[in-house]
This record gives sequence, C-alpha cells and structure tokens, in this order.
Amino acid sequence: MAFELKGRDAAGRLGLLATPHGTITTPTLLPVINPNKMLITPTEMRRRFHTDILITNSYIIFKDDRLRHTALENGVHRLLHFRGVIMTDSGTFQSHVYGDVHLDPIGIVEFQRDIGSDIGTILDIFSEPHHTRTEAEAGMSTTIQRATASLPHKGTMMLACPVQGGLYPDLRTRCAEELSILPADIHPIGGVVPLMETQRYTDLVTVIAAAKQGLNPSRPVHLFGAGHPLVFPLAVALGCDLFDSSAYAKYAQDDRYLLPWGTEKIQDLTELPCSCPICTKYSAEDIQDMTGDARVKTLALHNLYVSYAELRTVRTAIAEGWLWELVEQRAAANPALADSVRHLRDPSIQRFLEAHEPRSKTRAIRYTGPATIFRPLLQRYQQHLMSRYDPLFPTTVVLPERTKPFSSSYPALLPLLSTLAADVVVDSSLGPVPLALDEMFPCAQSVFPDYVDTETREEANRRLREFLGSRDVIRWETGKDLPKTLHGPGFDLDVRRIWAVADVQFGHGAAAALFQGKLGVIKSKSTHKIRNVMSDGDHVVSMRAADGLFTLKLAGAHRLHAAFSAPLLRVSVCDDAVPFVREGKSVFAKFVRSCDPDLRPGDECLIVDERDVLLGVGRLLLSPDEAAAFSVGVAVKPRETLPK
Ligand code: GUN
Ligand code: ZN
Repeated sequence: MAFELKGRDAAGRLGLLATPHGTITTPTLLPVINPNKMLITPTEMRRRFHTDILITNSYIIFKDDRLRHTALENGVHRLLHFRGVIMTDSGTFQSHVYGDVHLDPIGIVEFQRDIGSDIGTILDIFSEPHHTRTEAEAGMSTTIQRATASLPHKGTMMLACPVQGGLYPDLRTRCAEELSILPADIHPIGGVVPLMETQRYTDLVTVIAAAKQGLNPSRPVHLFGAGHPLVFPLAVALGCDLFDSSAYAKYAQDDRYLLPWGTEKIQDLTELPCSCPICTKYSAEDIQDMTGDARVKTLALHNLYVSYAELRTVRTAIAEGWLWELVEQRAAANPALADSVRHLRDPSIQRFLEAHEPRSKTRAIRYTGPATIFRPLLQRYQQHLMSRYDPLFPTTVVLPERTKPFSSSYPALLPLLSTLAADVVVDSSLGPVPLALDEMFPCAQSVFPDYVDTETREEANRRLREFLGSRDVIRWETGKDLPKTLHGPGFDLDVRRIWAVADVQFGHGAAAALFQGKLGVIKSKSTHKIRNVMSDGDHVVSMRAADGLFTLKLAGAHRLHAAFSAPLLRVSVCDDAVPFVREGKSVFAKFVRSCDPDLRPGDECLIVDERDVLLGVGRLLLSPDEAAAFSVGVAVKPRETLPK
C-alpha cells in the first residue's frame, strides 16, 4: 500500500494514500469514534462530511466481551457500520493515562489485524514532555523494539509505528531514523497531546521538525491527538499528513465552539461566526437553550464542520501555493501560535523547510507581516545572491523601491546603463534586487505593501548591507544626475540578465559554461521579454515568462554536464530505466538512484545513467530525499531526452 505525492508547498504535501478500503487524499482528519458511545455515528459522518477514514481504539473493543466478539466475528467495519478506511490505536494512551492497563504488545497488534483494521498501531510507550532524557530514551528504545517485534505479525494490515522521544530533538530524530529502516507503513508522532493541551506550540514545532528530519519521506506522518483546527496549517507546513482527534467531542462536552483561530464558550457568543449547516440553522441562543445531550451533539457537529473546512482550506493552500500565507495569518490571530511560527526561523528548522520548498510558484508570494521575509524561499534567495551572483563593477548604485518589475519603473535610468560603470541594485522590502534579477522569481513575483513593519525593514536593510559588503555605494535619487565619474563601459541589461539568472539558478559558473560562444537572444514580439538564448547557434536555454527562470535545452544540458561534475545538477537513474528515459518517458521515483542534494522541487535537472552518461534534461518534481525514497509516482518529467 503506497503513498504518492500530488502536490506540495512549504514542507506540506498533498498525497494519495492507498489502503485496503480505498485511497484517501491527504492531509486529512480521522475523527475518533468511541465504539461504546457514538456521539455522531460513522454513517452520519459519511453523509455530512464525506468521512472516508476514521480512527477507533482497539483496546476499548478488546476489553469489552461483546465488542470483542462482534469485531472478531464480523470485522471492525461491520462493528462500526463503516465501509471506509478504519485506523485503530493500540491502547498506549489509555495505559499511559490510567496506568493499570496491561496489554500484550504483540497480542494487541494481532488483534487489530484479526478484526480487519486497515491501519493498526503498535503499543508504543507514550513519552511525556516532562520526561528526563533517560526516561525518554528508555521509552523510545522499547517503542523501537516493539515496532521491530510487531511488524512480522501485521499480515496485510498497514502498521503505524509512532515516533517518541519526549522533548529531545536528537532522540526524536534518532527514533525516526531507526523506525524508518523498518518496513512500517505510517509514522505517527506521539507524546504530543500534553503539548497541544497546554498550547506549547513552539515545543510542538521542535518535535515535529526533529521527527520529520529522521523519517523516510515516503511515509505518511500522523500527528497523534491533534484535532483543533488551529494547528492544522502549521503542522501540515511541517510535513504532517494525518490528524486524529476526539477534540470535536471533548470540546463540545465542555460547551466549547471551535474556530480556525481559537475556541469560544457557546455561552459567550451572541452570534455564530460560521456558515456551516448547524450555524445556519440555529442561533447562538438556540444552542445555549438546548438540553445537555442535544447541545453537545450540535456543538460536536459544528466542531467537525469547521475542522473539515479548515483541512479543505489547507489542501487548497497547498495546491495554490499559499500555505505560508495561511500559517502566518493563523499565527497573527493567536499569540500562542505566533511564537511557534517565529520558531520556524531556527536555523535547523529553516534548513529542513528550505530543502522541501519548491524553486518557484505559480503565484506571487504575499506579505502578511514580519514573518514573511524569513520564509525559506526569501532566505534562499539572499543566500544564492551572496554565493552565486557576481557584480560587474566595484561600485553599486542603489535605487529606492518602485513598482515591479523594477527595470520598467526607472525609464530615465535605462538609457544610462550602456555607459555606466556601476552595478544597479534596488533596495526592496525583500532585500537587495539587482536590476538583472528583477524579473526572476521571487523578485517580481512578490507583493509587499508600501509600508512594511520595522522588523521587515531592518532585515531588508541587513540583507542589503550584507550584499554590498565593502563595495562603493552611490544612492541615486530620482531627479539627481549620476556622478560623472561613473561613466564607463556600461552593460547590456539583456546580457546581464541572462548571465545573472543562469548563475543564481544553476550555480556559480553556470553562465560561463552555458554561454561560452557567441550569444544570441530571441525576444517575444509582444512582451519584449527574453524567450530563447542561443550560444554559437545552439539553443541552450529558454526563459519562462511567468517566473523569469530558465528551462534547459539539450545543448545547454551538455554544457552544464561538462562544466559541473557529478552529483551536481544530476538525477541518476538505474540501468533498468535507461531505455524508458531515452524514449522520453517520465522518470519514476523507484528508478532514481541518487540526486544532487542541492536540487529543489521544480528544478531543471540533468538525467544521467549510473556511469554519469547524459540521458536528457527534465524537471524534478520532488525534493532529493523524496526522489530517493518514494517507490511510486513521478520524480522527473523529462523535457528532452537523447535517443541511443
Ligand atoms: N494517542 C495520543 N497520543 C498517542 C501516542 O503517543 N501513541 C499512541 N499509540 N496513541 C496516542
Ligand atoms: Zn458552524
């Protein structure tokens, strides 16, 4: 049973998870069903929310004679009257909370298998946030031992092996690495309920990021006990795919009404800020006046409507490329979340997030506040500018920010470039933008307001200072003449653009390799933008109008292949796949041998065989670790390939 990626944004993914009872789209929510007390039946859930996967507890079924017999006789699907996917938990949480539960770790896995659960869970050891390192390490070792011992008994059931390790990031990563070696199907992140109950979202971020960094990226990740919609955008952005919760019911029992940005007591509301079927039918007063059971059920229904709606929002945000905007918006509405979003700037978390962040997006980056400039994409841009961009002259002219793309908003300047002995850079809200990069993603494809917050302004200033280093700087203001001393050889903006984009996109030295012959530029007749770039008559790259980045042609691929040694820019495929690649077929992830770790989803890449013979050029759809780990789905869409 496999997991396939269909879309991505931040480290979040849109996936398809195949199970014995159908394929489900992730990220998704598994509502908790208590087989003894069904506040909302699975049938009603299916009708109202299209629920196609739910979770129940095998321990509750096991310890009740009637439920156990029925489940063993007819299967858990008939017990719950549900034809969709059923995941079962093992009793870890009950044993942790009530202490007096004695379960056989292998027996409870066999029981889940025997009642026909689609996804069972091992009896892991719950790690509390207050556990000492020794306690956390001991629990983690037992969890790994139990996973190892349980897997041979799973039969055709998928088995979830939770990552434990308390609040110790290194233990979480190690636990994840050791579980990833085992043939497990799903990895929940466990021991996090106390963090969410006390709104310790910063610790939650640490734990998720540490676990994700050790996990095999081809396995779906479940966040155990996460059911408040507040955490969905952030947890998905960090790479969680599945959520389960009884929160909808627990909060309802407490008269609490869930919202994507927090929780309200129903008695405090005079109106209902929601348009779900429940809130359309009833007023706040109607619900307040209901008797106990009716009120709980009504609130639980609303709570589930909001939870499912928030997951639809999250999935749309991934598909449309605005997951970061959603995370930042939610953080702005809740102070407890705000600290955790700031924690995403932590260097080790940044590295993890940046490695999964696509090269470009189909829509512009939109400023939401001080968090925006610290997004991995904008940090990556600055790093590439520092390591890959070569200034032409010792002097830099700095321009104030205007509308984008900047080269069109300084008409007085453009004629001067051909005799200017200086680089030109715009002091923008995202940091320095050399004129030659002004059409490249994310420089043109980002929307900032005219007035940004001071933290953003300070960070943009810092990035400009870092970029300028010790070079001579002239601040040019409209209406003033440039100093006479700057008259010199000048530059051609098209040539400069081609050269700068190639280096920043492919790596320092790429432009020299790609354009070593006589340069030819073909521009669009209607937009006057660069289309095709020729070198000695060979078409080496084309520039995409949407993001100002290059697509590689075969002639360009040959040049980069000769100039950059393996593994740079390469996706290496197994010999078995070579004939298919030569025919121009997609490169499936299972045929990928290795991948340049500096490639990013959406990058142009060289497709090579095991001996580094160039087979073609294409677009990488996954991150390098995913391309190496996934067994289903396309890793590279070939653009042009070389027949034998
Ligand atoms: N439910 C909530 N947290 C946990 C956990 O850590 N492990 C298991 N098995 N179930 C949980
Ligand atoms: Zn509602």
